[in-house]
Amino acid sequence: MDPVRVALLGCGTVGTEVVRLLHEQAADLTARIGAPLQLVGVAVRRPTRERGDLPVDPALFTTDALGLVKREDVDVVVEVVGGIEPSRTWLVEALRAGKSVVTANKALLAEDGPTLHAAAVDGHADLYYEASVAGAIPLLRPLRESLHGDRITRVTGIVNGTTNFILSAMDESGAGFSEALDEATVLGYAEADPTADVEGFDAAAKAAILASLAFHTRVRAADVYREGITEVSAADVASAKAMGCTIKLLCLAERSGDAVSVRVHPAMIPRTHPLASVGDAFNAVFVEAQAAGQLMFYGPGAGGAPTASAVLGDIVAVARNRLAGVRAASESAYADLRIRPIGEV
Ligand code: HSE
Repeated sequence: MDPVRVALLGCGTVGTEVVRLLHEQAADLTARIGAPLQLVGVAVRRPTRERGDLPVDPALFTTDALGLVKREDVDVVVEVVGGIEPSRTWLVEALRAGKSVVTANKALLAEDGPTLHAAAVDGHADLYYEASVAGAIPLLRPLRESLHGDRITRVTGIVNGTTNFILSAMDESGAGFSEALDEATVLGYAEADPTADVEGFDAAAKAAILASLAFHTRVRAADVYREGITEVSAADVASAKAMGCTIKLLCLAERSGDAVSVRVHPAMIPRTHPLASVGDAFNAVFVEAQAAGQLMFYGPGAGGAPTASAVLGDIVAVARNRLAGVRAASESAYADLRIRPIGEV
């Protein structure tokens, strides 16, 4: 059986784990797909960088990502670089040429998802992005497939691990925000520049993707009301505790009539709510649907290996589709819903 040929764009924390899984699980993946997956190129900024015992032929490294995407011997493009450009150019090029795309790029999907979806329709190509929200947790596939026959009314999530770690630490030890942020930095949860996490930008991008899928509409990160956790004080956490509540950075997407409201902000939730027990850097998403009722998805929302698990799941799905000569149904955003400003009743 001819191999399914994979090009990897990016070889950082997630990319290296993707390479490792492709290597370690090669036999199982071949059996599951019905054909081997062959890594044919890896686009990186510094090809000569020391990568330890990474199981990859150094000859596969290139700095020419666009050239790699355009190669005729590439069937599947996997993007784990992030950011808007040049990732958008690479992925649009791949999709229009009929290549399957697997991406973890939440910023791009939240900023310009419609352009990617249109390119996928033009090229009759698959676009999968399970890893873009909540790492390893199977969440987008259930929203876009399993719950497709139902009517989702609300999605409430803890989708940022860094802020959940900080708020959980404040809740447990009574620490202030700065102290808890320092602890998160020392333990490697928070990045050197934690702005995207603590100001809620990361969660807003994920909220836009979740709302778009849940309500079959187009929500962009800029449509999401956003408030971070930098103003949450030890006194706020203590007051919440006294009321039997805990403070979490929530993303909330709700539908009512012809409108959706999507917001990210710190909120007090009763300790009896399932989301209250989500500690450390874990993520959880609570989905309410008309027929299904209440569902909760929980697990590690970040990190190289968990995110690579979601990427691999998508690679298997698109490889199987290619072999069967089909592509997933297009995610047409048929519902033209209004974005309801916060405060509007
Ligand atoms: N910085 C993100 C988080 C990583 O803390 O959840 C995963 O998107």
